Amino acid sequence: MLSKNIEKALNNQIKLEAESSQIYLSMASWAESQGFEGVATFMYAHSDEERQHMLKIVKFINERGGHAIVSELDAPPISFGMLKEMFKTLFDHEVMISQKINDLVEITLQEKDYATHNFLQWYVSEQIEEESLARNILDKISLIGDDKGGLYLFDNDVKMLTANETQI
Ligand code: FEO
Repeated sequence: MLSKNIEKALNNQIKLEAESSQIYLSMASWAESQGFEGVATFMYAHSDEERQHMLKIVKFINERGGHAIVSELDAPPISFGMLKEMFKTLFDHEVMISQKINDLVEITLQEKDYATHNFLQWYVSEQIEEESLARNILDKISLIGDDKGGLYLFDNDVKMLTANETQI
């Protein structure tokens, strides 16, 4: 059985994962409208992943006798300036999410809820991967700068990255 405190904290994480999905969906739409097909494909896929992250927590709360809450979400930004700015926003967002997962893990230790602690380990690993992926993309785009040809190749690279990720 979940404690009320942990149930509340997990419900808050549901909201954060849902908002992550919305932010990446908005990034996908913006990139598509700017003609960056590869980046848009990457962001659409990423948005779907975040929905899966959210759903896992919904199921977990309900399986453990709690009630997962689907709540109102904060609206994501509509436009993102330049590609580099957008990926910086993505990176910063993932760092913030990692911190929230760490906070959750801390609460489970305080309450000796080892089942939830164990459940959260998947998120701890996932955040390491997500941060690393975002950092790699950001490094790449920093090298390119504003070069149009470079951005075109970058867009293609990101598309390939999405195809590879889907295979995994
Ligand atoms: Fe669900 Fe990108 O963290």
